[in-house]
Amino acid sequence: MTLYSRVRPLAFTLPAETAHELGKRALRAAGSTRPTRAALRYAYRVDDPALEVDLFGATFPNPVGVAAGFDKNAEVTHSLESLGFGFVEVGTVTPYPQRGNEKPRLFRLREDEAMVNRMGFNGHGMERVKERLRRDGLPRIPLGVNVGKMNTSNEAEALEDYRRVFDRLSPFADYVVVNVSCPNTPDEFDEDDPEHLRAIFETLEAENDAGKPILVKIGPDSPEESVLDLVDIVEAFDLDGVVATNTTTSRDGVRSPQREEWGGLSGTPLRDRSTAVVRTLAAYTDLPIIGVGGVDSPESAYEKIRAGASLVQLYTGFVYHGPSTAKRINRGLLELLERDGFSSVEEAVGADLE
Ligand SMILES: Cc1cc2nc3c(=O)[nH]c(=O)nc-3n(C[C@H](O)[C@H](O)[C@H](O)COP(=O)(O)O)c2cc1C
Repeated sequence: MTLYSRVRPLAFTLPAETAHELGKRALRAAGSTRPTRAALRYAYRVDDPALEVDLFGATFPNPVGVAAGFDKNAEVTHSLESLGFGFVEVGTVTPYPQRGNEKPRLFRLREDEAMVNRMGFNGHGMERVKERLRRDGLPRIPLGVNVGKMNTSNEAEALEDYRRVFDRLSPFADYVVVNVSCPNTPDEFDEDDPEHLRAIFETLEAENDAGKPILVKIGPDSPEESVLDLVDIVEAFDLDGVVATNTTTSRDGVRSPQREEWGGLSGTPLRDRSTAVVRTLAAYTDLPIIGVGGVDSPESAYEKIRAGASLVQLYTGFVYHGPSTAKRINRGLLELLERDGFSSVEEAVGADLE
Protein backbone atom coordinates (compact mmCIF):
# COMPACT_ATOMS: atom_id res chain seq x y z
CA MET A 1 0.00 0.00 0.00
CA THR A 2 1.47 3.36 -0.99
CA LEU A 3 1.40 6.44 1.20
CA TYR A 4 -0.89 8.09 -1.34
CA SER A 5 -3.42 5.26 -1.22
CA ARG A 6 -3.64 5.88 2.55
CA VAL A 7 -3.90 9.66 2.25
CA ARG A 8 -6.32 9.65 -0.66
CA PRO A 9 -9.48 8.60 1.26
CA LEU A 10 -8.83 11.48 3.68
CA ALA A 11 -8.14 13.96 0.91
CA PHE A 12 -11.30 12.82 -0.87
CA THR A 13 -13.44 13.80 2.13
CA LEU A 14 -12.47 17.43 1.45
CA PRO A 15 -14.01 19.55 -1.28
CA ALA A 16 -12.05 18.82 -4.47
CA GLU A 17 -10.52 22.27 -4.83
CA THR A 18 -9.42 22.38 -1.16
CA ALA A 19 -7.76 18.97 -1.50
CA HIS A 20 -6.10 20.15 -4.68
CA GLU A 21 -4.74 23.28 -2.99
CA LEU A 22 -3.44 21.25 -0.03
CA GLY A 23 -1.83 18.77 -2.39
CA LYS A 24 -0.10 21.59 -4.23
CA ARG A 25 1.13 23.06 -0.97
CA ALA A 26 2.62 19.70 0.00
CA LEU A 27 4.21 19.43 -3.43
CA ARG A 28 5.65 22.91 -3.17
CA ALA A 29 7.10 22.16 0.26
CA ALA A 30 8.54 18.87 -0.94
CA GLY A 31 10.19 20.54 -3.90
CA SER A 32 11.44 23.63 -2.13
CA THR A 33 14.97 22.50 -1.24
CA ARG A 34 17.66 20.85 -3.30
CA PRO A 35 18.01 17.77 -1.02
CA THR A 36 14.27 17.04 -0.96
CA ARG A 37 14.08 17.50 -4.72
CA ALA A 38 17.04 15.16 -5.18
CA ALA A 39 15.40 12.57 -2.89
CA LEU A 40 12.16 12.73 -4.86
CA ARG A 41 14.03 12.48 -8.12
CA TYR A 42 15.87 9.43 -6.85
CA ALA A 43 12.59 7.79 -5.83
CA TYR A 44 10.50 8.65 -8.87
CA ARG A 45 12.51 9.23 -12.02
CA VAL A 46 12.82 6.55 -14.66
CA ASP A 47 15.86 7.27 -16.82
CA ASP A 48 16.08 5.31 -20.01
CA PRO A 49 17.09 6.51 -23.47
CA ALA A 50 14.21 4.51 -24.97
CA LEU A 51 11.79 6.96 -23.32
CA GLU A 52 13.39 10.10 -24.74
CA VAL A 53 11.57 12.14 -27.36
CA ASP A 54 13.27 14.86 -29.43
CA LEU A 55 10.70 17.43 -30.42
CA PHE A 56 10.33 21.20 -30.76
CA GLY A 57 14.11 21.54 -30.56
CA ALA A 58 14.17 20.01 -27.07
CA THR A 59 14.79 16.61 -25.55
CA PHE A 60 11.91 15.29 -23.46
CA PRO A 61 13.40 12.72 -21.02
CA ASN A 62 10.15 10.78 -21.21
CA PRO A 63 6.81 11.30 -22.98
CA VAL A 64 4.61 11.71 -19.88
CA GLY A 65 3.79 15.34 -19.06
CA VAL A 66 1.51 17.31 -16.77
CA ALA A 67 -1.45 18.84 -18.63
CA ALA A 68 -2.44 22.50 -18.43
CA GLY A 69 -4.53 23.51 -15.44
CA PHE A 70 -2.64 21.59 -12.76
CA ASP A 71 0.23 24.06 -12.38
CA LYS A 72 -1.61 27.09 -13.72
CA ASN A 73 0.70 29.59 -12.06
CA ALA A 74 4.07 27.78 -12.29
CA GLU A 75 4.13 27.12 -8.54
CA VAL A 76 5.10 23.45 -8.48
CA THR A 77 6.98 23.01 -11.74
CA HIS A 78 10.20 21.85 -10.08
CA SER A 79 8.38 19.39 -7.84
CA LEU A 80 6.63 17.89 -10.85
CA GLU A 81 10.00 17.46 -12.54
CA SER A 82 11.24 15.66 -9.42
CA LEU A 83 8.25 13.31 -9.56
CA GLY A 84 9.54 12.06 -12.88
CA PHE A 85 7.33 13.86 -15.38
CA GLY A 86 8.95 14.44 -18.75
CA PHE A 87 7.54 17.95 -19.19
CA VAL A 88 5.09 20.39 -17.65
CA GLU A 89 2.63 22.71 -19.34
CA VAL A 90 1.85 25.69 -17.12
CA GLY A 91 -1.27 27.85 -17.53
CA THR A 92 -3.67 28.66 -18.94
CA VAL A 93 -2.12 32.05 -18.20
CA THR A 94 -4.17 35.18 -18.80
CA PRO A 95 -2.83 38.76 -19.03
CA TYR A 96 -4.25 39.84 -15.68
CA PRO A 97 -5.21 37.98 -12.51
CA GLN A 98 -8.67 36.50 -12.75
CA ARG A 99 -10.87 34.88 -10.12
CA GLY A 100 -12.66 32.43 -12.38
CA ASN A 101 -16.14 31.09 -11.69
CA GLU A 102 -17.91 30.87 -8.32
CA LYS A 103 -17.02 27.92 -6.08
CA PRO A 104 -17.71 25.04 -5.95
CA ARG A 105 -16.34 24.58 -9.46
CA LEU A 106 -14.38 21.33 -9.28
CA PHE A 107 -16.05 17.96 -8.67
CA ARG A 108 -14.74 14.42 -8.32
CA LEU A 109 -16.74 11.67 -9.99
CA ARG A 110 -15.21 8.77 -8.12
CA GLU A 111 -17.16 5.88 -9.62
CA ASP A 112 -15.96 7.06 -13.03
CA GLU A 113 -12.39 8.10 -12.08
CA ALA A 114 -13.30 11.44 -13.59
CA MET A 115 -13.67 15.11 -12.70
CA VAL A 116 -15.91 17.92 -13.83
CA ASN A 117 -14.48 21.41 -13.67
CA ARG A 118 -15.75 24.84 -14.47
CA MET A 119 -12.81 26.76 -13.05
CA GLY A 120 -13.11 29.46 -15.71
CA PHE A 121 -9.45 30.46 -16.12
CA ASN A 122 -8.72 31.44 -12.52
CA GLY A 123 -5.10 32.45 -12.23
CA HIS A 124 -2.46 34.87 -11.04
CA GLY A 125 -1.92 36.58 -14.39
CA MET A 126 1.17 36.74 -16.58
CA GLU A 127 3.30 39.14 -14.52
CA ARG A 128 3.27 36.94 -11.43
CA VAL A 129 3.89 33.82 -13.45
CA LYS A 130 6.79 35.52 -15.21
CA GLU A 131 8.26 36.65 -11.90
CA ARG A 132 7.98 33.14 -10.47
CA LEU A 133 9.64 31.51 -13.49
CA ARG A 134 12.44 34.08 -13.29
CA ARG A 135 12.91 33.64 -9.55
CA ASP A 136 12.60 29.84 -9.34
CA GLY A 137 14.56 29.23 -12.54
CA LEU A 138 13.50 26.87 -15.29
CA PRO A 139 13.09 23.16 -14.63
CA ARG A 140 15.48 20.74 -16.34
CA ILE A 141 12.63 19.32 -18.38
CA PRO A 142 10.87 21.09 -21.25
CA LEU A 143 8.29 23.67 -20.26
CA GLY A 144 5.11 24.45 -22.18
CA VAL A 145 3.17 27.66 -21.62
CA ASN A 146 -0.55 27.62 -22.34
CA VAL A 147 -1.87 31.09 -23.18
CA GLY A 148 -5.43 32.34 -22.88
CA LYS A 149 -7.61 35.41 -22.88
CA MET A 150 -9.55 37.23 -20.17
CA ASN A 151 -13.14 36.07 -19.76
CA THR A 152 -14.40 39.59 -20.36
CA SER A 153 -12.47 40.20 -23.59
CA ASN A 154 -14.27 40.72 -26.86
CA GLU A 155 -12.88 39.34 -30.10
CA ALA A 156 -10.42 42.18 -30.74
CA GLU A 157 -9.29 42.34 -27.11
CA ALA A 158 -8.73 38.57 -27.13
CA LEU A 159 -6.09 38.97 -29.86
CA GLU A 160 -4.27 41.51 -27.76
CA ASP A 161 -4.53 39.18 -24.72
CA TYR A 162 -2.87 36.31 -26.58
CA ARG A 163 -0.21 38.64 -27.97
CA ARG A 164 0.70 40.03 -24.56
CA VAL A 165 0.90 36.70 -22.74
CA PHE A 166 2.93 35.28 -25.62
CA ASP A 167 5.26 38.27 -25.53
CA ARG A 168 5.85 37.99 -21.76
CA LEU A 169 6.11 34.24 -21.33
CA SER A 170 7.30 32.66 -24.57
CA PRO A 171 10.97 33.41 -23.72
CA PHE A 172 10.64 30.88 -20.88
CA ALA A 173 8.85 28.25 -22.95
CA ASP A 174 10.01 25.35 -25.09
CA TYR A 175 6.59 25.46 -26.73
CA VAL A 176 3.50 27.65 -26.47
CA VAL A 177 -0.10 26.44 -26.65
CA VAL A 178 -3.02 28.58 -27.75
CA ASN A 179 -6.01 27.38 -25.82
CA VAL A 180 -9.20 27.93 -27.79
CA SER A 181 -11.07 24.93 -26.44
CA CYS A 182 -12.04 25.61 -22.85
CA PRO A 183 -15.69 24.59 -22.44
CA ASN A 184 -16.33 26.59 -19.28
CA THR A 185 -15.37 30.18 -19.97
CA PRO A 186 -18.11 32.63 -20.95
CA ASP A 187 -17.65 33.24 -24.67
CA GLU A 188 -19.23 36.16 -26.43
CA PHE A 189 -17.89 34.86 -29.71
CA ASP A 190 -16.96 31.58 -31.30
CA GLU A 191 -13.38 30.90 -30.22
CA ASP A 192 -12.64 28.28 -32.81
CA ASP A 193 -14.23 30.14 -35.70
CA PRO A 194 -11.68 29.83 -38.55
CA GLU A 195 -11.50 33.60 -39.09
CA HIS A 196 -10.77 34.20 -35.44
CA LEU A 197 -8.14 31.44 -35.39
CA ARG A 198 -6.43 32.95 -38.42
CA ALA A 199 -6.35 36.32 -36.68
CA ILE A 200 -4.83 34.78 -33.52
CA PHE A 201 -2.15 32.91 -35.45
CA GLU A 202 -1.31 35.97 -37.56
CA THR A 203 -0.92 38.02 -34.39
CA LEU A 204 1.35 35.47 -32.75
CA GLU A 205 3.46 34.82 -35.81
CA ALA A 206 4.12 38.56 -36.08
CA GLU A 207 5.34 38.44 -32.47
CA ASN A 208 7.38 35.27 -32.87
CA ASP A 209 10.83 36.47 -33.95
CA ALA A 210 12.42 33.78 -31.80
CA GLY A 211 10.58 31.06 -33.72
CA LYS A 212 9.05 29.39 -30.66
CA PRO A 213 7.00 26.30 -31.48
CA ILE A 214 3.30 27.21 -31.34
CA LEU A 215 0.59 24.57 -30.89
CA VAL A 216 -3.16 24.80 -30.68
CA LYS A 217 -5.24 22.90 -28.13
CA ILE A 218 -8.50 21.49 -29.39
CA GLY A 219 -11.59 20.04 -27.76
CA PRO A 220 -13.02 16.55 -28.25
CA ASP A 221 -16.55 17.66 -29.14
CA SER A 222 -16.17 19.20 -32.59
CA PRO A 223 -17.23 17.30 -35.70
CA GLU A 224 -14.40 15.73 -37.67
CA GLU A 225 -14.67 18.24 -40.56
CA SER A 226 -14.06 21.20 -38.29
CA VAL A 227 -11.08 19.47 -36.67
CA LEU A 228 -9.57 18.88 -40.10
CA ASP A 229 -10.36 22.47 -41.18
CA LEU A 230 -8.47 23.62 -38.14
CA VAL A 231 -5.49 21.44 -39.05
CA ASP A 232 -5.49 23.07 -42.51
CA ILE A 233 -5.26 26.49 -40.87
CA VAL A 234 -2.54 25.33 -38.47
CA GLU A 235 -0.54 23.99 -41.43
CA ALA A 236 -1.15 27.10 -43.53
CA PHE A 237 0.38 29.16 -40.75
CA ASP A 238 3.25 26.74 -40.37
CA LEU A 239 2.44 26.17 -36.74
CA ASP A 240 4.05 23.30 -34.93
CA GLY A 241 1.51 20.92 -33.49
CA VAL A 242 -1.82 20.12 -31.87
CA VAL A 243 -2.74 19.26 -28.28
CA ALA A 244 -5.70 16.88 -28.27
CA THR A 245 -7.84 17.13 -26.27
CA ASN A 246 -9.36 19.45 -23.73
CA THR A 247 -12.28 18.33 -21.52
CA THR A 248 -15.67 17.32 -22.92
CA THR A 249 -19.20 18.57 -22.33
CA SER A 250 -20.52 15.06 -23.02
CA ARG A 251 -21.60 12.82 -20.13
CA ASP A 252 -21.92 9.60 -22.15
CA GLY A 253 -21.33 6.51 -20.03
CA VAL A 254 -20.87 8.54 -16.83
CA ARG A 255 -22.63 7.20 -13.72
CA SER A 256 -21.72 9.45 -10.78
CA PRO A 257 -24.40 11.84 -9.51
CA GLN A 258 -22.05 14.79 -10.13
CA ARG A 259 -22.50 14.22 -13.83
CA GLU A 260 -25.28 16.81 -13.48
CA GLU A 261 -22.74 19.56 -12.71
CA TRP A 262 -22.00 21.75 -15.71
CA GLY A 263 -18.45 22.06 -16.97
CA GLY A 264 -15.76 20.05 -18.69
CA LEU A 265 -15.42 16.35 -17.95
CA SER A 266 -11.93 14.80 -17.73
CA GLY A 267 -10.47 11.42 -16.82
CA THR A 268 -11.35 7.85 -17.77
CA PRO A 269 -14.61 8.56 -19.65
CA LEU A 270 -12.67 10.90 -21.97
CA ARG A 271 -9.97 8.36 -22.79
CA ASP A 272 -11.36 6.74 -25.94
CA ARG A 273 -12.82 9.93 -27.32
CA SER A 274 -9.54 11.82 -27.09
CA THR A 275 -7.59 8.87 -28.51
CA ALA A 276 -10.00 8.85 -31.46
CA VAL A 277 -9.25 12.54 -32.08
CA VAL A 278 -5.50 11.82 -31.92
CA ARG A 279 -5.96 9.04 -34.47
CA THR A 280 -8.01 11.25 -36.81
CA LEU A 281 -5.39 13.97 -36.62
CA ALA A 282 -2.46 11.61 -37.13
CA ALA A 283 -4.08 10.01 -40.16
CA TYR A 284 -4.49 13.45 -41.70
CA THR A 285 -1.32 15.36 -40.82
CA ASP A 286 2.33 14.92 -39.95
CA LEU A 287 2.12 17.67 -37.34
CA PRO A 288 3.30 16.49 -33.92
CA ILE A 289 0.44 15.68 -31.55
CA ILE A 290 0.34 15.82 -27.76
CA GLY A 291 -2.34 13.35 -26.64
CA VAL A 292 -4.29 14.10 -23.48
CA GLY A 293 -7.49 12.74 -21.94
CA GLY A 294 -7.88 9.82 -19.55
CA VAL A 295 -4.19 8.86 -19.44
CA ASP A 296 -3.58 7.14 -16.09
CA SER A 297 -1.69 3.91 -16.88
CA PRO A 298 1.00 2.55 -19.19
CA GLU A 299 -1.70 1.09 -21.45
CA SER A 300 -3.64 4.34 -21.79
CA ALA A 301 -0.45 6.28 -22.55
CA TYR A 302 0.75 3.66 -25.03
CA GLU A 303 -2.56 3.59 -26.88
CA LYS A 304 -2.33 7.35 -27.53
CA ILE A 305 1.29 6.98 -28.68
CA ARG A 306 0.38 4.15 -31.05
CA ALA A 307 -2.53 6.27 -32.32
CA GLY A 308 -0.06 9.01 -33.27
CA ALA A 309 0.79 11.09 -30.19
CA SER A 310 4.49 11.93 -29.80
CA LEU A 311 3.91 12.93 -26.18
CA VAL A 312 1.06 12.46 -23.69
CA GLN A 313 -0.17 14.54 -20.77
CA LEU A 314 -2.44 13.95 -17.82
CA TYR A 315 -4.20 15.76 -15.04
CA THR A 316 -7.05 13.65 -13.64
CA GLY A 317 -4.95 10.47 -13.55
CA PHE A 318 -2.50 12.25 -11.27
CA VAL A 319 -5.29 13.19 -8.86
CA TYR A 320 -6.52 9.60 -8.65
CA HIS A 321 -3.16 7.83 -8.63
CA GLY A 322 -0.79 10.24 -6.86
CA PRO A 323 2.92 10.98 -6.95
CA SER A 324 4.09 7.67 -8.41
CA THR A 325 1.94 8.11 -11.55
CA ALA A 326 4.73 9.12 -13.96
CA LYS A 327 7.07 6.43 -12.65
CA ARG A 328 4.44 3.72 -13.01
CA ILE A 329 3.55 4.80 -16.53
CA ASN A 330 7.16 5.13 -17.67
CA ARG A 331 8.16 1.74 -16.26
CA GLY A 332 5.14 0.13 -17.89
CA LEU A 333 5.83 1.86 -21.19
CA LEU A 334 9.31 0.35 -21.28
CA GLU A 335 7.78 -3.10 -20.84
CA LEU A 336 5.17 -2.52 -23.54
CA LEU A 337 7.81 -1.25 -25.97
CA GLU A 338 9.93 -4.30 -25.35
CA ARG A 339 6.95 -6.64 -25.69
CA ASP A 340 6.15 -5.18 -29.11
CA GLY A 341 9.73 -5.02 -30.36
CA PHE A 342 10.12 -1.23 -30.39
CA SER A 343 13.48 0.19 -29.40
CA SER A 344 12.05 3.57 -28.38
CA VAL A 345 8.87 5.55 -27.80
CA GLU A 346 9.60 7.48 -30.99
CA GLU A 347 9.49 4.25 -32.97
CA ALA A 348 6.04 3.39 -31.60
CA VAL A 349 4.43 6.75 -32.48
CA GLY A 350 1.59 6.10 -34.93
CA ALA A 351 2.22 2.32 -35.05
CA ASP A 352 -1.53 1.64 -35.20
CA LEU A 353 -1.95 3.78 -38.30
CA GLU A 354 0.16 1.63 -40.57
C1 LIG B 1 -9.37 21.32 -12.83
C2 LIG B 1 -8.92 21.37 -14.25
C3 LIG B 1 -8.45 22.57 -14.76
C4 LIG B 1 -8.02 22.64 -16.08
N1 LIG B 1 -7.54 23.82 -16.56
C5 LIG B 1 -7.08 23.89 -17.84
C6 LIG B 1 -6.54 25.10 -18.34
O1 LIG B 1 -6.41 26.09 -17.63
N2 LIG B 1 -6.13 25.12 -19.64
C7 LIG B 1 -6.21 24.02 -20.45
O2 LIG B 1 -5.82 24.10 -21.63
N3 LIG B 1 -6.72 22.85 -20.00
C8 LIG B 1 -7.14 22.77 -18.72
N4 LIG B 1 -7.64 21.59 -18.25
C9 LIG B 1 -7.75 20.43 -19.18
C10 LIG B 1 -6.56 19.49 -19.06
O3 LIG B 1 -5.37 20.12 -19.46
C11 LIG B 1 -6.78 18.23 -19.93
O4 LIG B 1 -6.87 18.65 -21.29
C12 LIG B 1 -8.05 17.48 -19.58
O5 LIG B 1 -8.27 17.48 -18.19
C13 LIG B 1 -8.02 16.01 -20.05
O6 LIG B 1 -6.93 15.33 -19.42
P1 LIG B 1 -7.15 14.34 -18.14
O7 LIG B 1 -8.24 13.40 -18.51
O8 LIG B 1 -5.82 13.70 -17.97
O9 LIG B 1 -7.51 15.21 -16.99
C14 LIG B 1 -8.07 21.49 -16.91
C15 LIG B 1 -8.53 20.28 -16.38
C16 LIG B 1 -8.94 20.20 -15.07
C17 LIG B 1 -9.43 18.89 -14.54
